Amino acid sequence: MKHIDLIDIMSDESYVNTEVTVCGWVRTSRDSKNMAFIELNDGTTLKHLQIVIDKAVIDNSAAYMKLGSALRITGTLVPSAVKQGGVEINAASIDVLGECPAEYPLQKKRHTLEYLRTMPHLRVRTNTFNAVFRVRSVIANAIHEFFQKRHFVYVQPPLITASDCEGAGEMFQVTTIGYSDQYKSREEYYADDFFGKKAGLSVTAQLEGEVAALAFGKIYTFGPSFRAENSNTPRHVAEFWHVEPEVAFAELPDIIEIAEDMIKYIINTVLETCPDEIAFFDQHFEKGLKDKLVNVASNDFVVLDYTDAIELLKKADVDFVYPVEWGSDLQTEHERYITEQVYNKPVFVTNYPKDIKSFYMKQNPDGKTVAATDLLVPGVGEIIGCSEREADLDKLLAAMEAKGMSTEDYQDYLDLRRFGSVPHSGFGLGFERIIMYVTGISNIRDVILYPRTVGSIR
Ligand code: 4AD
Ligand code: MG
Repeated sequence: MKHIDLIDIMSDESYVNTEVTVCGWVRTSRDSKNMAFIELNDGTTLKHLQIVIDKAVIDNSAAYMKLGSALRITGTLVPSAVKQGGVEINAASIDVLGECPAEYPLQKKRHTLEYLRTMPHLRVRTNTFNAVFRVRSVIANAIHEFFQKRHFVYVQPPLITASDCEGAGEMFQVTTIGYSDQYKSREEYYADDFFGKKAGLSVTAQLEGEVAALAFGKIYTFGPSFRAENSNTPRHVAEFWHVEPEVAFAELPDIIEIAEDMIKYIINTVLETCPDEIAFFDQHFEKGLKDKLVNVASNDFVVLDYTDAIELLKKADVDFVYPVEWGSDLQTEHERYITEQVYNKPVFVTNYPKDIKSFYMKQNPDGKTVAATDLLVPGVGEIIGCSEREADLDKLLAAMEAKGMSTEDYQDYLDLRRFGSVPHSGFGLGFERIIMYVTGISNIRDVILYPRTVGSIR
């Protein structure tokens, strides 16, 4: 259908005083005696274009005023009568492409995000979701750009897997059998199942990422991960997008540098590419957002040893719900205290106790901690989980044994330590979590098209 996108019409002066055709949906409209006005949006920009209807030129204007209806309009693009530097169209003809009756749920008033969650197929037509999804798209591109410029190879790992990397209990099972009472044991069931053994949806691409990194040097993956976590929080979804670089010949400080550079690259790209969206979020969702982002992009992140973090928390004049003790995991309240109250900027907490972290993390010489780090940010908490990997076969085997893991399913992974093992490191960035941080949207359900959470899918 021949027409011009609003983003182009509004940014290219050569269209002024020419005849143009645009398409879009009616966002608001207003009627007066001789004239009528429509605010049109086609989704290509946050901005609306005003359509001016002279009732002497177009009769039956009431047919074009209904909220949500889809129109095609031809007319002359002219400088706006009221908005400095803006443009509007004096309509010469209008076609209705799709009627929209009065029961359209998105009426003029501002709806809450909770209410909009009940209609994922329509909420995307609001300004908020227009801005969120443009930023989401720009961040996705920035991530590819960041790694491609640095010669990382983009690899696509399998999503169906037989190994659970992050620990038991969080994997969705993949089976073609389902409910049946014809098997006497699990073993029998799995032997009869599609793959002949138990399979699930991958919680991380790390294991395959390590395989690729020990061949191509530097790789990244960018795809969905699945977690059957029973945590109904504003930060967890069962299906999230996961960015996982893996780098050979890199130790913990090297990978921390890459992670920090990547976050800054993402923020700078959004500041440059999406000024209208950031201004919108700053006004409606997080006051001071733009200044926050500029600050984060131009200052060093904090690197804080876990042991020092525990000291800080013990000294804090706060009644935490969960007790703080060396050896225990940091809870959301602790993470928030450190990033929001103490530093008010991103913090890498490093060298966690080995007992609370995964088997694959490099064991530090102290025998108690591992070379791992989480990147915590104000407002969201953990956005990156990162570590140097244990490259020593015997130490890795001992860690697996200590965690009661069977080594049978991990022979490929162990081979990486048998044949030309090298120091290597990687991390996982929660894609939705960085979007939350950059937009100031505080619930993960509002930065993903169709959130999947405990007890909820559509
Ligand atoms: O900290 P996690 O569990 O680390 C890993 O999976 C490593 N194997 C990554 C690696 O080293 N390649 O997860 C990484 C990140 C978290 O920091 C968080 O941002 C995000 O993934 N994440 C989730 N995001 C949304 N919903 C969930 N349920 C998430 N679980 C993890
Ligand atoms: Mg983690």
